[in-house]
Amino acid sequence: MTSLPASVTLVEVGPRDGLQNEPQTVPLTVKVDLIGRLAEAGLRRIEAGAFVSPKWVPQMADTADVLAGLPARPDVSYPVLVPNEKGLERAMAAGAREIAVFAAASESFSQRNINCTIAESLARFAPVCRTAQDSGLRVRGYVSCVLGCPYEGAVAPDAVAEVAERLAGLGCAELSLGDTIGTGTPGKAVAMVEAVAARIPRERLAVHFHDTYGQALANIYACLQHGIAVIDCAVAGLGGCPYAKGASGNVASEDVLYMLDGLGIETGVHLDRLLEASRFVTDALGRTPVSKTARAFSANHRERKTLQR
Ligand code: HMG
Ligand code: MG
Repeated sequence: MTSLPASVTLVEVGPRDGLQNEPQTVPLTVKVDLIGRLAEAGLRRIEAGAFVSPKWVPQMADTADVLAGLPARPDVSYPVLVPNEKGLERAMAAGAREIAVFAAASESFSQRNINCTIAESLARFAPVCRTAQDSGLRVRGYVSCVLGCPYEGAVAPDAVAEVAERLAGLGCAELSLGDTIGTGTPGKAVAMVEAVAARIPRERLAVHFHDTYGQALANIYACLQHGIAVIDCAVAGLGGCPYAKGASGNVASEDVLYMLDGLGIETGVHLDRLLEASRFVTDALGRTPVSKTARAFSANHRERKTLQR
């Protein structure tokens, strides 16, 4: 166990991981506006979409248009998911500067999510990573199902470490460890992180918790204590995974930021502006935020208004 980091990088994945799972089509203007607001809030890494098959995930079909619509901000990176060489070609044609490849620690999830075995996926990613790096793109690697698989149940920490190490070997600068179905608890999360950190420096690791069982903040706090300083989160707690039924959204960015602010950990993100972005997207989708922080601030706001009358 180490002391808590002085600063943390938040990777906002709502526009991709959140919106990929929406039953309704989210208009392009809403996506572009949302990402602009997240950048205004101080987020510097915002996953903007995915160049996956539009037959598999129709919600991400307009990712090239999203990238084209974004304000050119050299201080903000807009990574996109890429599952194969075709995805990389599309990403590069659209001007992406950072991509993420995504493998799984469980065979069944790999099959359902990207229609191939883990070994086949790694072979598929090798030329993608090579070309991306040769072209100066930064590459992130995801490992899904690090704390449980919707089809196979428990997943061994060593299986996660093995896939993470293989992705690192392909040139992924950062490895994001995804609790896709949110079944993890702090002790198991730490055991998994330590198994990976035995093979890859922890400065290169990020954690990606879905909050299905309400464990995400506790898991993040435990991982912070173990030297992890890159955290994925989604504004308003949007999302889930189309290939993991019942999985809820990522941990809400507002809740993570509220905790980090309370701990005195620097992020460069402004809670008030993040709450505005959260209100914007939940209004656009016609729903209340999953984020408790967003709900509490919204209730306090209403209360203040009533008292002012
Ligand atoms: P496949 O059907 O095996 O692929 O899908 P294929 O190569 O046989 O191609 C089938 C058709 O798709 C062809 O078109 C290809 O051209 C086209 P057709 O000839 O039938 O007209 N195609 C593409 N089109 C556009 N862009 C592409 C592309 N590739 C093929 N890149 C494939 C394999 C990997 C493509 C598919 O399974 C796929 O797109 N899967 C993506 C699933 C996905 O996006 N899942 C959600 C993201 S992962 C996640 O959420 C977890 C994460 O958040 C971390 C965590 O929480 O754990 C990251
Ligand atoms: Mg995810």
